[in-house]
Amino acid sequence: MISKDTIVKGLQTKFFGQSVFAFNTIDSTNTFAKSLSKDHAPHGTIIIAEEQTAGRGRLQRNWSAEREKNLLFSLIFYPEFDVQKISLITFAGALAVADAIEATTSLSPSCKWPNDILINGKKVSGMLLETNARKSGIEKVILGIGINVNQSEFPEELVSKATSLINESGKVVDRIQLLQKILEELEYRYLQLSSFPPEQLLNDWRMKALLFGKKIVVLESEFSFTATAIDVNEDGSLIIQMDDGQKRRVFAGDVSLAYT
Ligand code: BTN
Repeated sequence: MISKDTIVKGLQTKFFGQSVFAFNTIDSTNTFAKSLSKDHAPHGTIIIAEEQTAGRGRLQRNWSAEREKNLLFSLIFYPEFDVQKISLITFAGALAVADAIEATTSLSPSCKWPNDILINGKKVSGMLLETNARKSGIEKVILGIGINVNQSEFPEELVSKATSLINESGKVVDRIQLLQKILEELEYRYLQLSSFPPEQLLNDWRMKALLFGKKIVVLESEFSFTATAIDVNEDGSLIIQMDDGQKRRVFAGDVSLAYT
């Protein structure tokens, strides 16, 4: 089982992953992270589990993953930067996961707006950002990350959409090594986001972005329509061109290639 000791040993970060809650089974690492107070969970605390019984995804979806094969964890932040940058934490997370996968395997993942990691067109990782808004502003931010690592079989309804690192590389991946690399990359990206204009982080994300210039299907609330993906804005929204030529931004939703 993944433990606090295995995570912390050799980990080259100042904050991220230095405080650990490790579980065999939990409902959801994000839900647990929400329940922790600042005194018990300093900046950079990680909550990790071998299995989730109620793993949550974006847009009220669930996240299911075979026990002991994957990475299921949440990180807690107390951002001191501008509230407008908070939604960009998922971009920092996506870049950290993509770069860590690239460093520990032979694979070259891509980023799909808003926060999926794809390999050969199939999803290998997703993230869920949650905040606790107070009158005084946003205090705590939770970034939940799920990565399909050594799971080789998927339920029938997911086979065409989901993949894992083992399925794409043909090799068992050391989960601890991958996790440590993610934590190191994420600490670097978080500092980049705190200290510099968001363009620096977004430029790196753009280099790995998949859909720009492509015809996409946008799912926004309960509506779906086709458009062309143009760029990502500095607030994290997706800039699209509608079929009538008008440009606009999408703040929340999901996108997929219109023609595959
Ligand atoms: C998505 O792609 O919809 C986001 C998936 C996020 C899943 C992770 S697994 C660890 C953490 N705990 C949860 O309940 N969800 C996130």
